[in-house]
Amino acid sequence: MRSFLGRDILSLKGFGREEFFRVFEAADELAPFARDRRNTDLLKDKTLVTAFYQPSTRTRLAHEAAMHRLGGHVTGFADVKNTRAGDFYQESIKDTVRMLEFYGDVLVMRHFQQGAPHEAARWASIPVINAGDGWGEHPTQVLTDMYTILTEKGTLDGLNFLLIGDMRMRTMHSISYAMTQFDINAFYVSPPEMSLTEDFKKELVDLSLNFKEIEHVEQAIAEADVIYMEPVVQPDYTKQRDERKGAVGDTPENYRVTKELLRKARQDAIVLHSLPRMDELPPEVDDTRHQRYWVEAFNGVVVRMALLALVLGAME
Ligand code: CP
Repeated sequence: MRSFLGRDILSLKGFGREEFFRVFEAADELAPFARDRRNTDLLKDKTLVTAFYQPSTRTRLAHEAAMHRLGGHVTGFADVKNTRAGDFYQESIKDTVRMLEFYGDVLVMRHFQQGAPHEAARWASIPVINAGDGWGEHPTQVLTDMYTILTEKGTLDGLNFLLIGDMRMRTMHSISYAMTQFDINAFYVSPPEMSLTEDFKKELVDLSLNFKEIEHVEQAIAEADVIYMEPVVQPDYTKQRDERKGAVGDTPENYRVTKELLRKARQDAIVLHSLPRMDELPPEVDDTRHQRYWVEAFNGVVVRMALLALVLGAME
């Protein structure tokens, strides 16, 4: 297994099965601090730099909360308009990162351009963590998803995943790579204009993922152990900001998970959603036994604690 020390976390492509389990073991070890709302001093000499070129609630604050729990420090920006990268100068990633690398010990970046964190990693002497790049990938979200599935199901093997929504989404790419490391059958259902691309499907075939595209959720709902969702009413992830102007459309019934649909699901099926949600996941599901997206709020901090501790060498 490759060492995590000093490593960039940019993609889950090539992230090995043992590496998933190492992150999850570290998360288990650190979870009691978060559960008891205690801080430790594991990273007391380290600083996290956050560079968020796109809006975020969960990803940025979960990384920051994780760093605080580990006794470290946090600096960074959440509104690029107030930096030189977002005003008249449009400062390049290279020039920005060659400054930021001296402001801390690890950089967490979200960007509207696919590959931007990879570009940052080319220039940074500190580890770079991809917090979502355009339609590209969202590795830390999917590590949180997989950790949640492991803790809820006790295994990541022998499971059926039903993936519903916009398959252009960065989470859908990262979870597809993650599934290739386990004995998982995947069923994808999406509007035709948001389906998996031919190139990506070829990659998944080459990576030996057992998957099938289906037309209707009803074709797989009864078999699903994990129902993994993203909206189909989406902003444009290639934009820095995509503010809502007027009414947005409703989600077609086939891409919604309702209480009524869940009556056809296994009793122990779990619903995950990276959030934020639109109308594809009505609040009525929140109180069902299937809901695990609020569990992810806690796990999101714990998994980021594990990643920060590993890449900064506080855990091996
Ligand atoms: N799940 C997720 O990436 O949420 P944020 O956009 O709020 O970070």
